[in-house]
Amino acid sequence: MVRGQTPEEFQKATANLAYAFGRRHARVYSERPDDPPIRSGYWALVLGAVDRLRFRDRPSVVYLVVVRTDALRTLVDPFDVPSVPDFTALPLARREDLRHWCLHLLATHVLIGGATRSGKGSVLWSLVRVLAGGISSGLVRLWVIDPKGGMEFAMGRPLFARFACKSFEAMADLLDEAVTVMRERQTRLAGAVRVHTPTLADPLVVVVIDEMAALTAYLQDVDLRKRIAGSLGLLLSQGAGVGVLVVAALQDPRKEVLPFRDLFPTRIALGLTEAAQVDLVLGDGARNRGALADQMPRWAKGVGYVILDGTPEPARVRFSYISDDHIRELAAEYPAPADAADILAQVGRETATEPTRPPLPRQRRGPLLPDSLLNILDRDTDGGEPR
Ligand SMILES: Nc1ncnc2c1ncn2[C@@H]1O[C@H](COP(=O)(O)OP(=O)(O)OP(=O)(O)O)[C@@H](O)[C@H]1O
Ligand SMILES: [Mg+2]
Repeated sequence: MVRGQTPEEFQKATANLAYAFGRRHARVYSERPDDPPIRSGYWALVLGAVDRLRFRDRPSVVYLVVVRTDALRTLVDPFDVPSVPDFTALPLARREDLRHWCLHLLATHVLIGGATRSGKGSVLWSLVRVLAGGISSGLVRLWVIDPKGGMEFAMGRPLFARFACKSFEAMADLLDEAVTVMRERQTRLAGAVRVHTPTLADPLVVVVIDEMAALTAYLQDVDLRKRIAGSLGLLLSQGAGVGVLVVAALQDPRKEVLPFRDLFPTRIALGLTEAAQVDLVLGDGARNRGALADQMPRWAKGVGYVILDGTPEPARVRFSYISDDHIRELAAEYPAPADAADILAQVGRETATEPTRPPLPRQRRGPLLPDSLLNILDRDTDGGEPR
């Protein structure tokens, strides 16, 4: 850049630049300097002073990428299901440079904003899919709230430890119980660790909410709405550190509809209807830095903008497309284990029947009793039938 120019000026002029080069899109990335090397020895002081100048955090080069063919035009096939999910890098989408965009799901909450039919379902299902290995091995518990009466998630019911889709009271109960799990962990883990790592004994509880506005704004029953708002506020402000996370999708990100917007550290913006909504979802200035989520063409289902770590410019990505058949396969192959629901006793107000669940392939703990004695005890409790 010439002295006096800033990356923001290039970002504002992307449409003009694209036009000048006869292309549809142009993107501007500013360069960030690496960390300076660690100096030692005789010249350390002098070299350190030079490094401070060379590596100062002030971009001097901008990259202008002129887009000829859109890498996101083709559908993105579902990614492989890892048997042990890496919670720090869950691949969910394809980036414009054809690399994977990975979500860091530890100690964060995720907000997905997108107009109707923009593909919020594919974001949620892409996430469920990469977590599936952890679900069946007991590292992850999905507690799912589907206020649309089960239209989105009912098909994957065996994957979920808890599921509420019809009665709002059951949804409020589910959230209350998530708060109880959080409180219990807080008292147990206080002083031991500061950030929770998922284990079989203390799995990651992910509360997935499709169409969150149904709970926070459109619900008629005021008392119930207040109760839900209370527990959501607690979960969002304190749950991340103890492994009780919220992943929520919604259509309308205005403050009246979602008062807790600022409590979500990770945000994803799919196609939106108004320019002003982009900044509401991704944070101030995101649209000026290139997140044109309000200008999605009609084919761009599941295409959205995310903020990458360490770069100010939002990245455009396309989430993997999970078809109904994929969902059925997932549900058959990775069901939640038998004891998934009883982190807390099931309230059981929901009418949907619990699916049968395979037992968890876990070593029975009880080193104090010899096997022969355990077998006798098992037989006694099961009415004579050996397990
Ligand atoms: N990643 C994707 N790639 C291609 N097509 C997609 C993708 N995600 C969704 N679609 C298609 O877009 C349409 C809408 O998707 P979806 O139902 O997920 O949207 P939504 O945002 O959840 O809508 P609603 O607000 O109505 O629930 C569907 O027909 C689906 O097949
Ligand atoms: Mg949906």
